Amino acid sequence: MHTKTGKLSTSPLTMLVDCCRLVSMQLLPTAIESYVQEHSTLETPLLSELRRETYLKVLMPRMLSGPVQGSVLAMLVRMIRPQQILEIGTFTGYSAIWMASALPKGGKLITLDINEELSEMVQRYILRAELQGVIEAKIGNALEIIPTLEETFDVVFIDADKANYPHYYELALEKLRSGGFIIADNVLWHGKVAASEKADRKTQVLQDFNAFVQQDSRVENVLLPIRDGLMIAQKK
Ligand SMILES: C[S@@+](CC[C@H](N)C(=O)[O-])C[C@H]1O[C@@H](n2cnc3c(N)ncnc32)[C@H](O)[C@@H]1O
Repeated sequence: MHTKTGKLSTSPLTMLVDCCRLVSMQLLPTAIESYVQEHSTLETPLLSELRRETYLKVLMPRMLSGPVQGSVLAMLVRMIRPQQILEIGTFTGYSAIWMASALPKGGKLITLDINEELSEMVQRYILRAELQGVIEAKIGNALEIIPTLEETFDVVFIDADKANYPHYYELALEKLRSGGFIIADNVLWHGKVAASEKADRKTQVLQDFNAFVQQDSRVENVLLPIRDGLMIAQKK
């Protein structure tokens, strides 16, 4: 663990707390993270069950957005009032259900994932959430599926493999209406994007992605330091 000055911190307790934050993708101190959670709309019992089942049965469960980010995504959907959302990276359906539950009447969410093994679980929770007419979960490589979609989207949530973020961003811009929003997750990459030491490959990809969005004259953007970082870009 590195301190602000770049030197190694010596306290084992500090290192343990820092490690826990990294593992849970928490950038805030634990007490503040808990306070934020206690003062945000709670996940429904069904979402809580989905989160628990994901942690019990699925590899890499911390890929799931988590309750505060879920609440943020739902609030953004309530503010934007989109008719069409595209999500790239379904995983077990947690963020899809948060966002779809906040859609205005008649709204739709298409979510894409390459991993068909999670499909049964995703469908089971979509049915239990009574969102079968709202969420369409497609299996396959998002890079191949997106160009075939006929819809124009109001919001695209990018939350799949980081190496393809630049490609998802370009594909999303093509399918987005003017005034629509791209929301890209994990852009702080556990805070590593801002670290002074030499970046590993994934960190470099995200640094390049953030720099690209920052200079892209086609969008207005803001990087929100929520959980692992959300880059929000509005197409002009
Ligand atoms: C971080 S998880 C998504 C988490 C989910 N949005 C949530 O918050 O609960 C990333 C997902 O992207 C999927 N993925 C990776 N590469 C993909 C690709 N090329 N096309 C579609 N999905 C992909 C993975 O299978 C994984 O389930």
